Amino acid sequence: MKKILITGGAGFIGSHVVRLFVQKYPEYQIYNLDKLTYAGNLENLTDIENSPNYTFVKGDITDAEFLAQLFAETSFDGVIHLAAESHVDRSISDPMSFVMTNVVGTVNLLNAAKSSWAPSGFAGKRFYHVSTDEVYGSLHNPDEFFTETTPYDPKSPYSASKAASDHFVRAYQNTYGLPTVVSNCSNNYGPNHFPEKLIPLMIHNIRNNKPLPVYGKGENVRDWLYVIDHARAIDVIFHNGQTGDTYNIGGFNEWKNIDLVNLLCSIMDRKLGRPEGTSAQLITYVTDRAGHDLRYAIDSTKLKTELGWEPSLQFAEGLEKTVDWFLQNQSWLDNVTSGNYQKYYQDMYANR
Ligand code: NAD
Ligand code: TYD
Repeated sequence: MKKILITGGAGFIGSHVVRLFVQKYPEYQIYNLDKLTYAGNLENLTDIENSPNYTFVKGDITDAEFLAQLFAETSFDGVIHLAAESHVDRSISDPMSFVMTNVVGTVNLLNAAKSSWAPSGFAGKRFYHVSTDEVYGSLHNPDEFFTETTPYDPKSPYSASKAASDHFVRAYQNTYGLPTVVSNCSNNYGPNHFPEKLIPLMIHNIRNNKPLPVYGKGENVRDWLYVIDHARAIDVIFHNGQTGDTYNIGGFNEWKNIDLVNLLCSIMDRKLGRPEGTSAQLITYVTDRAGHDLRYAIDSTKLKTELGWEPSLQFAEGLEKTVDWFLQNQSWLDNVTSGNYQKYYQDMYANR
């Protein structure tokens, strides 16, 4: 039986990756290591929490001793590393927590894997680092896309911390021969998305008749991918990607923020039975984010041609599913916005 450690599995993307692996690979034992920060929510995984091939481990990747002990207790065959601080606005107000988790935490994890694997050789092992397209910086020419060879040019404390972690992963491959693989994905959306990010925040505020804060003029462009398609890509890359290689993941699906917010308003008007145009009146232009990247757009041709992955959902369908999920899971959203989910699970795991 293969033992796979997934970090950050209680978060948005990580929970979808954990579910996919637990359900698709009953022959694997999946360990979900998560600190349960404000972004970690075990309610994301209640449907699989009692599966025999699933184990939750509460822990912090900035704690090197804890990681050494964990790797000594369990000999993992692979690591899929998603744990991170992930919100750009938080990175602007508190960059050091991004340095600690994204940079120091990643290096701790690399060291733990290297020390545990090196004595018997790296054959059959894999360290998969999940990263973002934001490391490439901001595009200004409409014909340009990020490819795997685009030079790194991170512009926010978040993207700088992810870029640093990517560099460390590649340095460990080059220096110590650690078998690594990296992917850089565009913006995700879908069920369980934490409501500080654009799409779930807008859905939440529309439902509650609260202002819809659009930064600057709303002209920034993001390239949106359904979270389950990202999890599918991670599965394909983990199993079939070339050791030492990098894969960009994206859906060729660019949207200006203001167009996307207007589309969400119109979907929500229809679903809530409000006259068309009602929710759009909530749009409020607010002060722009400092250093706001203008445009991200991923070219995922390599992943399609080499590993045969492509998105399974069109955006219209993915957005409908997402809105439906949030409307049908209002208690999830209410628990998250009230902070109740953290109190419940902190008590439950206080003694680990
Ligand atoms: P998220 O913020 O929803 O979840 C992060 C998870 O990591 C949480 O469960 C949190 O509790 C855990 N965590 C944070 N610090 C930790 C620590 N010190 N030790 C252990 N666990 C810790 O993030 P997400 O949006 O699911 O992103 C997951 C990964 O994918 C990140 O590495 C992110 O950079 C990358 N990514 C995200 C997107 C996106 O659109 N959200 C796009 C591309 C790549
Ligand atoms: P976000 O979801 O924070 O993702 P990222 O910054 O990692 O791309 O933001 C997506 C886009 O939406 C980004 O251009 C910032 C903008 N935005 C708003 O206009 N208003 C908001 O309240 C938020 C959270 C984001």
